[in-house]
Amino acid sequence: MSQKFPLLSVAPMEGLTGVVFRQVHSRLFGGADVYYIPFVTPTILPKFTERQLRELAPTVNAGLHVVPQLLTRRTEDFIWAAKTLGEMGYDEVNLNVGCPAGTVVAKGKGSGFLRTPADLDHFLDTVCEADLGVEISVKTRLGWADESEFDLLSNVFDRHRLKTLIIHPRLKSDQYKGQVRTHVFEKYYDGFNVPIGYNGDLTTVADIVATKERFGGLQQIMVGRALMADPALFRKVKGGPSASREEIVGFTRELFESYARAFDSRKNALMRIKEYWFYQLNLFEGAQAYAKNLFKSKTPEAFDEALRPIVEELPIRTDAYFGWFKPID
Ligand SMILES: Cc1cc2nc3c(=O)[nH]c(=O)nc-3n(C[C@H](O)[C@H](O)[C@H](O)COP(=O)(O)O)c2cc1C
Repeated sequence: MSQKFPLLSVAPMEGLTGVVFRQVHSRLFGGADVYYIPFVTPTILPKFTERQLRELAPTVNAGLHVVPQLLTRRTEDFIWAAKTLGEMGYDEVNLNVGCPAGTVVAKGKGSGFLRTPADLDHFLDTVCEADLGVEISVKTRLGWADESEFDLLSNVFDRHRLKTLIIHPRLKSDQYKGQVRTHVFEKYYDGFNVPIGYNGDLTTVADIVATKERFGGLQQIMVGRALMADPALFRKVKGGPSASREEIVGFTRELFESYARAFDSRKNALMRIKEYWFYQLNLFEGAQAYAKNLFKSKTPEAFDEALRPIVEELPIRTDAYFGWFKPID
């Protein structure tokens, strides 16, 4: 079957878009062409851990197009992990050079790798030449602290046979604050030979459609937080219906029960569900007034009680509100 571009992909989000989310979301809402797995760090020991296999085992991802993501700056570790994933049946492995977390960049990984473009170039030379049995994509930011870094970095990426280069147009120093630097993405977009994906701050159907039109030939549009806020977002982009109240309630219930089974703890499952509702509140008009009550609930029953007026009484928005926007301090 021929694939329609741009693909709509679910961003890798540690703690949010793991196996439980993928299974429940794909079953209840669909609409995503690809799910990227939150990063896995391969170690010197050439073997995935039990914990990592809970995300990576082909059986838990059956029926979905799923791409594992690796976080490393050591070619040896990338190579064994990518080969193993190829043998497990994956067709693509993604390299994370965007993560801005302090503990990650301190080791020169994630967006820390962007500070050493020559090393990154050498890394990509080596892994792209290796016989891995999978294609390689990269998820990146524009640089460490200055937009001009992307002059060199864009060349480094474009020199290699990548399946896709997914760009989140922020610098490491931006973390997730301020507006995305779309002007930089625009400046370089036409010059790339490598297929490009866009990621960052797309919230509504109109945002996604406008991005597709503004950047003709995009291979992929990746969305993270807005899909947490509105699980029907991709379905709507594809012409399907908005999420009904019943669907939102059912989604929360299924996520909760699946996490409770996975964690063997209803308390931990509740903590996790609150992380989704941090975003999902933005789908309901006036819900922030109810946030405190919802987030302080200590039991699943108290949470249900606090959720009821939100999902039963408040108007559902046509699109989620970009309530997680963080201004520059
Ligand atoms: C809680 C959280 C966890 C994330 N985990 C990852 C990750 O594992 N790998 C990665 O490449 N990006 C990660 N990201 C970044 C997202 O993939 C994405 O680039 C970012 O949220 C911007 O896209 P959005 O505006 O559509 O959410 C994470 C972001 C958040 C907020």
